[in-house]
Amino acid sequence: MKLRTIDNIDVRGKYVLLRDDFNVQIVDGKITDAFRIDQSRPTIERLRAGGARVVIVSHLGRPKGTRNMEYSMTLVAQYLGIPLIPDALARDFMPTMQDGDVVLLENVRFYPGEESNDPEFAAQLANGFDMYVNDAFAVSHRAHASTVGVAKILPSYAGDLLASEIRNLDAVMENPRRPLLSIIAGSKVSTKIGVLKALAKLSDAMIIGGALGTTFNYALGDNVGNSLYESDQKQTALDILAFARENNCNVLLPLDKGVAKEFRRDAERVNKHFDQIESDDVIMDAGIETTARNVAAVDDAATVIWNGTVGMAEWMPTWSYGTFTLAHAIANRTRDGKLQSIVGGGDTVAALEASGTKSDISYVSTGGGAFLEYVEGRVLPGIDILADR
Ligand code: 3PG
Repeated sequence: MKLRTIDNIDVRGKYVLLRDDFNVQIVDGKITDAFRIDQSRPTIERLRAGGARVVIVSHLGRPKGTRNMEYSMTLVAQYLGIPLIPDALARDFMPTMQDGDVVLLENVRFYPGEESNDPEFAAQLANGFDMYVNDAFAVSHRAHASTVGVAKILPSYAGDLLASEIRNLDAVMENPRRPLLSIIAGSKVSTKIGVLKALAKLSDAMIIGGALGTTFNYALGDNVGNSLYESDQKQTALDILAFARENNCNVLLPLDKGVAKEFRRDAERVNKHFDQIESDDVIMDAGIETTARNVAAVDDAATVIWNGTVGMAEWMPTWSYGTFTLAHAIANRTRDGKLQSIVGGGDTVAALEASGTKSDISYVSTGGGAFLEYVEGRVLPGIDILADR
């Protein structure tokens, strides 16, 4: 897709409303993963260097249209070292801005008009600006006032991060080096039906893992004990397997699992094949044989698209084995120049970070839901409105 970008746009002295996605995880008053913020910096710097007066707007969490300070952008403003404007609709600070100044507005989801894309709210948000730049790929699957509403009012452009996400994802989807291996894991089949089908069509092979994989094993009649899976998705799983077969995609399901008697970080890990799994066993990670098979599949691939961890990767080191081994295999082969790797999704990116493999991946997307929808081939409203037609 070709987008209107900020290349060749003179921003000097212009008031630019910049949509970023600073929806980061905050635990005990600390930002635990600043990846999205850091990836947004180049566009901020570019606009600043170009002499724009940059006012950033973002959401954080889901405050549902109320001013809930638990979701304040204060820590993000501190992290970036820029002033926070406590009211996203205040405009009295604007005349005091100089060329190159950057400020951040308070959480735009404090207003109900944001998520309902209320035209009046969008007009208030756009008020005072000369142009709009969307650099928030991760929220561009939402038709909100700050992603779509303002883009209808102001001259609107894609920022560098958004443009780079689209360029990298399009390259893999439109002309992948083959064999293409998709790895889809995580917890729910129900949220990934579309992407599973789209990738089954596109890929030569597909690893299905995590709790999502457990649902497939359950659908095929394997013992899954007392594990997390979706019994109501049995037919969907069987349909996806049939669809993959029709499209010559070789589906690789879990062969064995790391299980415990309790769903606890410090529970004792035992490796079991499905015929050994008892009714009180809880599946928490990919097994040894599955992991070796997954690594072999990566070694056969020229392109990997990965979303979703294959186990409780955050419960290191016992339960991160399957995910981290996979991450290292992908990273090593990418570093050797034999693999093009694309990874998206908050948990998966956190696992890359925790396993020290992130910098070796060819492209790490900032998107979670947006990444999945884009890969599925859906039209993302926040991007569609920036298309250069
Ligand atoms: C995300 O984290 O995926 C985006 O920021 C979108 O957030 P949302 O799912 O709350 O709309």
